[in-house]
Amino acid sequence: MRTPNLLSPLTMRDLSARNRLWLPPMCMYCVPGDDGAVTDWHVVHYASRAVGGFGTLIVEATAVTPEGRLSPNDLGLWEESQVEGHHRIVDAVHAAGALAGIQLGHGGRKAGTPPMRPREKGARTSTIEGWELLAPSAVAYPEHAVPTELDETGIDHLVEAFTSAARRAVEAGYDIVELHGAHGYLIHEFLSPLSNFRTDSYGGSPQGRRRFLLRVVQAVRQAIGEEKVLDVRLSATDWADGGLTGQDTVELARQLAEAGVDILHVSTGGNVPAQVPAGPGFQLPFAAQVKEAVAGTRTQVVGVGLVETAAQAEQALVTGQADAVAVGRAALRDPYLPLRWAADLGVRSWQEAPWPIQYWRGTWH
Ligand code: FNR
Repeated sequence: MRTPNLLSPLTMRDLSARNRLWLPPMCMYCVPGDDGAVTDWHVVHYASRAVGGFGTLIVEATAVTPEGRLSPNDLGLWEESQVEGHHRIVDAVHAAGALAGIQLGHGGRKAGTPPMRPREKGARTSTIEGWELLAPSAVAYPEHAVPTELDETGIDHLVEAFTSAARRAVEAGYDIVELHGAHGYLIHEFLSPLSNFRTDSYGGSPQGRRRFLLRVVQAVRQAIGEEKVLDVRLSATDWADGGLTGQDTVELARQLAEAGVDILHVSTGGNVPAQVPAGPGFQLPFAAQVKEAVAGTRTQVVGVGLVETAAQAEQALVTGQADAVAVGRAALRDPYLPLRWAADLGVRSWQEAPWPIQYWRGTWH
């Protein structure tokens, strides 16, 4: 039997992931103190998904500065003392045979939302009083506080914060650094004409709006060296009139490929309230567009968004919409999803499925 594309290795620089299933970054919002430190929960949560067969895991949005946290309960990598906890996640993920990546981000005007309350949907729609909000322009996200417009010094400081956090990520042993350029957070706020109204060299034109991200990419690549994988997560469209479109993202994707970005992780939305036509695989056409744009370069594309069956994921790869597929919420419900999907795709030998070697006696084929 032909090995399904989903279970074939994914090569990135000198690294090889055992398959093409990614766990996308998903905030756990469970740091109990104010120190952004990794807890046992994080280690167990990520290790479980690695044992469950994912080839690559991206650890949740991790703040590059304290005020960049989306909530007080987020992880951080803004100081050295935080490295050790990430080491634990990386070691646990590696021990289970997967690659470990981390998403570095800054919440911009959507930072500083109140802690999550279990079972309370839609609780993250305001700003904690007194939280310092920084953004490209002093324009609030609806129902959030008005941010302070960053000046040049503030921008330089944040480029440095991303760079130092990336250096710490390498120290912790991560294989992949993903920059959070999606979902209406700081980098996306710079990119989009719906949140960037600057008249200096960081705004005004598509090139101006891209300048912050391109600076971060260049500085982070220098900091992490040539061996590590650099990944940028983008919202391909704002789903709103006057906002970013797939075509804008195609142009940006080409520039990022040229700048040495290895992976483009294609999501959508989040910068302004919008009607999103969410349905099975609804973001994959944007991934396909980006993949076409970077064809002939070594940049690869990860698709994501309501991919909830093995057949759907395999189809996305076979039809060339993406090089890998990320599965989020379904993997919160089932850490062993890759093992089940391997069986769904007809893989009957434990050597071919991503079973941990320790479990081989327990498999039934
Ligand atoms: C997310 N998502 C997300 N995205 C991101 O870029 N950084 C993050 O930290 C988070 N955090 C997060 C938390 C939780 C609880 C959920 C459910 C989602 C979005 C996520 O990575 C993914 O893009 C979406 O969930 C869509 O994929 P699925 O769930 O349809 O497979």
